[in-house]
Amino acid sequence: MSNETDRLVDPQPKTEERLDTTLRPRLLSELIGQERIKENLAILIEASLQRGEALDHVLFYGPPGLGKTTLAHILANEMGVNIKVTAGPAIERQGDLAAILTNLNPGDVLFIDEIHRLGKAVEEVLYPAMEDFALDIVIGKGPSARAIRLKLPRFTVIGATTRLALVTAPLRARFGATYRLDYYEPEAMQQILTRAAEMLSAEADEQGLAEISLRTRGTPRVALRLLRRVRDYAQVRAESIITKPVAEEALDLLDVDDLGLDEMDRRVLRAIIEKYNCGPVGLNTVAASVSEEADTIMDVVEPYLMQLGFLERSSQGRIATAAACAHLGLDYPQKPDSPKLF
Ligand SMILES: Nc1ncnc2c1ncn2[C@@H]1O[C@H](COP(=O)(O)OP(=O)(O)OP(=O)(O)O)[C@@H](O)[C@H]1O
Ligand SMILES: [Mg+2]
Repeated sequence: MSNETDRLVDPQPKTEERLDTTLRPRLLSELIGQERIKENLAILIEASLQRGEALDHVLFYGPPGLGKTTLAHILANEMGVNIKVTAGPAIERQGDLAAILTNLNPGDVLFIDEIHRLGKAVEEVLYPAMEDFALDIVIGKGPSARAIRLKLPRFTVIGATTRLALVTAPLRARFGATYRLDYYEPEAMQQILTRAAEMLSAEADEQGLAEISLRTRGTPRVALRLLRRVRDYAQVRAESIITKPVAEEALDLLDVDDLGLDEMDRRVLRAIIEKYNCGPVGLNTVAASVSEEADTIMDVVEPYLMQLGFLERSSQGRIATAAACAHLGLDYPQKPDSPKLF
């Protein structure tokens, strides 16, 4: 997922945001929201620390921008170990993974982002590494080739993916714990914004932050980005104070509507509604009609529209709902769902 767009509500990170980690919570107690996951992780951490063992392998999945990478760093930090960060597509050959594994210290965390994109051959090296802390390597070729098994230190794999369905069953089975991150509740978003505003020394009142929070799609990454843009607007146009009217004006100007939808979301919905009579229509057809990649639509546009109840996925394709039509001020088509007898 590297095709960067200029969408303000894109849940994927912009290049400069990847570098900006000042706002990233470092301890579990600093992380706002995701209460159930936090409680489970606190138990996992404490139990491992008490036994003096490496953390069990952990898999995080869910839409982009909700805190998978942040949680991986927090886990390593809380365990007091090093974290080595890599990503599925970055490990091209078995040898690449072998080099990473043999450099780990006991207890270290190996964070594999986009773990669904690991190649098959690389995955096969990972299985015994995760299960038996062993690396099987073949020396030589042909009849004289022989396999040797190297012992690895006990370490922890933390995997992250936006597409659980694409993680193979044998790989999934090797994780001791799997957690799904969900969109944040408005109250949690409000707290995240309050903390971020303080850290950015942005002056804002409660109603101003509440207005932003409504439009963040329950996604911290989007929240932090909108806050920065509204802060700019407040600075230039409104004596630097973020109030409700200031937030409204700024976000309207940025074309982020009152549910956090932007032009791209609206184009996708409009295409399904107007060109295909609300569907069902195939993903590739939708993608072609809005000139966007199917993967991007599936990963970053659809999850939030489904969460709002604006879009449904069926075996026949995508369907826009009556609620989507109402939000866009379009007519919901009358569909003959039962055959007429007369
Ligand atoms: N609970 C939270 N409280 C405060 N800030 C958060 C929280 N979760 C995430 N963030 C912030 O949101 C941004 C995105 O988080 P992160 O990079 O961990 O998302 P991600 O799930 O790994 O996304 P992707 O799938 O794109 O890799 C970061 O800047 C992080 O600091
Ligand atoms: Mg991430």
